Amino acid sequence: MSPDTEFRGRLALVTGAARGIGAAVTRALVARGAHVVATDRDAQGLDRLAADRPDHPDRLTVRPLDVTDPEAVEALVADVERTVGPLDVAVNVAGILRSSPVTALRDEDWAATFAVNTNGVLHVSRAAARRMVERGTGSIVTVASNAAGIPRTGMAAYAASKAAAVMFTKCLGLEVAARGVRCNTVSPGSTDTDMQRALWAEAGSTDRDAAARRVIEGDLAAHRTGIPLGRIAAPDDVAEAVLFLASDRARHITLHDLYVDGGATLRA
Ligand code: NAI
Repeated sequence: MSPDTEFRGRLALVTGAARGIGAAVTRALVARGAHVVATDRDAQGLDRLAADRPDHPDRLTVRPLDVTDPEAVEALVADVERTVGPLDVAVNVAGILRSSPVTALRDEDWAATFAVNTNGVLHVSRAAARRMVERGTGSIVTVASNAAGIPRTGMAAYAASKAAAVMFTKCLGLEVAARGVRCNTVSPGSTDTDMQRALWAEAGSTDRDAAARRVIEGDLAAHRTGIPLGRIAAPDDVAEAVLFLASDRARHITLHDLYVDGGATLRA
């Protein structure tokens, strides 16, 4: 099957779709034939996404959704299945990053981080998996982070929330494998999005190229190894990995964690 049509007739739900990696995943799925229900808590961002994609209006539905609210997630998934169709693919992209050393970490930042990055993944994956197992088919992809696999200073809450999301997704995958549902994670490294630029701004950098160079070169004093491939990821690089795992090309792959970090975590 041509890559341009490999998702033809498939219905996908994407969270965190208003910008960055979620928007790239949404665009790529629509371009390859899927109908995408693009969700985000940022309703205006969703409207911008829809306005940017006038080419396939029939294949893009935007719906505001806060993934931290389990009842709202369940209601939206039920409504989508009733009014649009059965979900074939669910992609968890919504995420937040609040950096702080642990000694200064506020309880509300820890809780907010887990509410989105971990609980949100539970809410969406559970609602999708319940329905997918009944039909004996489906694919769930969670976008985690390479910070889940390597300690980072100032990122304990974020890294722990993402590590939990990875293990949750693997355990879910094990439970539903015999029912024909695959569950995988994509763990990106530094990717050029608003989230990454906010991190650079927090570090006091207004010069995008200089900040990117520092990330690429690494910083031994901060125990960061740099990026062996010598570039910051584009959102499309991450979307490509998500689409592979969501597609039938990955039909024999489940419980996998695919790193898209240019070698930054030196994983063998
Ligand atoms: P971003 O900050 O540019 O976009 C995140 C989107 O998630 C936003 O549109 C935001 O409104 C939405 N969102 C946040 N909380 C939400 C909630 N409660 N309910 C629904 N939507 C919510 O971030 P980016 O960079 O596109 O990140 C996407 C995912 O990739 C996140 O899970 C992030 O942790 C992960 N990631 C990003 C990396 C990077 O360097 N940009 C590196 C590794 C992982």
